[in-house]
Amino acid sequence: MELGLEGHTAMITGGASGLGKCTAQYLAAEGVRLLIADNEEETLETTAAELEKGGAEVKTHLLDVRDAEACREAVEATVEAFGKLDILINSAGVGGPFNYFVENTPEDWDKLIGVNLLGVINCSHAAAAHMQENNYGKIVSLASEAGKANEKRMVVYGATKGGVISLTRGMALELGRYGINVNAVCPGVTRTPMTAYLDDAMVETASKFYPLQRLGEPEDIAPMIVFLCSQRSSWITGQAISISGGFGRS
Ligand SMILES: NC(=O)c1ccc[n+]([C@@H]2O[C@H](COP(=O)([O-])OP(=O)(O)OC[C@H]3O[C@@H](n4cnc5c(N)ncnc54)[C@H](O)[C@@H]3O)[C@@H](O)[C@H]2O)c1
Repeated sequence: MELGLEGHTAMITGGASGLGKCTAQYLAAEGVRLLIADNEEETLETTAAELEKGGAEVKTHLLDVRDAEACREAVEATVEAFGKLDILINSAGVGGPFNYFVENTPEDWDKLIGVNLLGVINCSHAAAAHMQENNYGKIVSLASEAGKANEKRMVVYGATKGGVISLTRGMALELGRYGINVNAVCPGVTRTPMTAYLDDAMVETASKFYPLQRLGEPEDIAPMIVFLCSQRSSWITGQAISISGGFGRS
């Protein structure tokens, strides 16, 4: 299937690591020109070098998604570099601390809400203004199964992801008339640096909660994101799609 992505341009927040990095690799393979934005400078440059080695056209941008003005500048940098912004992937995110709600502190929820929810609002707002002018755009955000069902020891994290799902529905409603598709993907627990704290015993226990009896890999998630960025998904918008080995069922 021809995805029709050749020559398109994308900004990927959290593009230095994990799901953002894997998505960058898959998009680059489809001929998408990339700006990867992240607040970890060293990882950002290492990832960009890897992508370039694989033949990608890639720019880097140091960005803290909690800063609305900086997000606007990152969108401008993408447009300046490539002439347009077709695709925004919101993958920047933080997890933890994995303790009970009553043990959380204001610092914990400021960070979770700042990165996982405000960060998605900041970048989507900046990108949508540009996409509206072009009457074209794709916005895909990394939500989570935790945003649908929520779970113990990650109550505020789940609330931020529930916020991303709601934001996705609302943006899809307003932006559809401008040819902009807005969707979210909801991974179950996936093996990335964010979940590197899981030891073998924890992985074995957690896998039992999944009908497919294993945790996810970035390669399970990125293809759906790429599909949602493609010409082949042009009638899909406002969705929060579970990719979780059957953990969430509908
Ligand atoms: N790994 C999982 O199990 C899982 C499951 C569901 C959803 N998610 C979501 O997927 C997204 C990607 O997670 P991942 O597993 O790839 O994690 P990861 O830690 O590998 O990658 C997250 C990236 O976001 C960057 N980042 C963090 N704070 C930032 C900020 N303020 N500004 C800019 N960049 C920032 C980090 O530097 C990192 O490169 C996150 O939104 C996460 O919540 C992950």
